[in-house]
Amino acid sequence: MKIKKVETDKKQYLDLLLLADEQEDMIDRYLERGTMYVLEDNGVKAECVVTDEGSGILELKNIAVEPDWQGRGYGKTLVDFLVRTYKERYTVLQVGTGDSPSTISFYESCGFRRHHLVKNFFTDHYDHPIYENGVQLVDMVYLQREI
Ligand SMILES: CC(C)(COP(=O)(O)OP(=O)(O)OC[C@H]1O[C@@H](n2cnc3c(N)ncnc32)[C@H](O)[C@@H]1OP(=O)(O)O)[C@@H](O)C(=O)NCCC(=O)NCCS
Repeated sequence: MKIKKVETDKKQYLDLLLLADEQEDMIDRYLERGTMYVLEDNGVKAECVVTDEGSGILELKNIAVEPDWQGRGYGKTLVDFLVRTYKERYTVLQVGTGDSPSTISFYESCGFRRHHLVKNFFTDHYDHPIYENGVQLVDMVYLQREI
């Protein structure tokens, strides 16, 4: 297994990026300024994108694992990799996500705890309603973990 930084043509992984963030123009807000990694294990299985948010905060903007390969530890491997790679340069790793039990459980398993809400983020910024497991996402939940 290998984790590689992606320097050019990040959109070649658009299918994976869209799994985590289904509106492409929202991905465009962070993809270029972000640092992208892909996890290869007999082919690309997962990706993530992080950005520098200032004040020692690194933000995980997008993380996705190929649907057939979810639940086998690749997501957690990427989070652990980010913690190892960035712990000298940042104090906090944060992530903003919809209030959906499955994604929140994943982040809690990776050591994140709920920190604050941005009210109406999904209804204000996306051009269509976003549903996860049948529930419409409204507020953005920020979770953080110290690194
Ligand atoms: C969310 C996602 C990145 C998790 O990656 P993954 O490789 O499937 O998760 P892992 O196998 O590394 O799981 C790590 C831990 O989270 C838990 N977890 C993962 N998915 C979960 C779920 N749907 N419900 C509850 N717990 C979950 C696992 O049980 C595991 O816990 P453990 O370490 O205590 O055993 C992946 O499922 C995915 O790409 N989903 C679609 C895109 C998406 O929603 N991205 C996040 C948007 S904010």
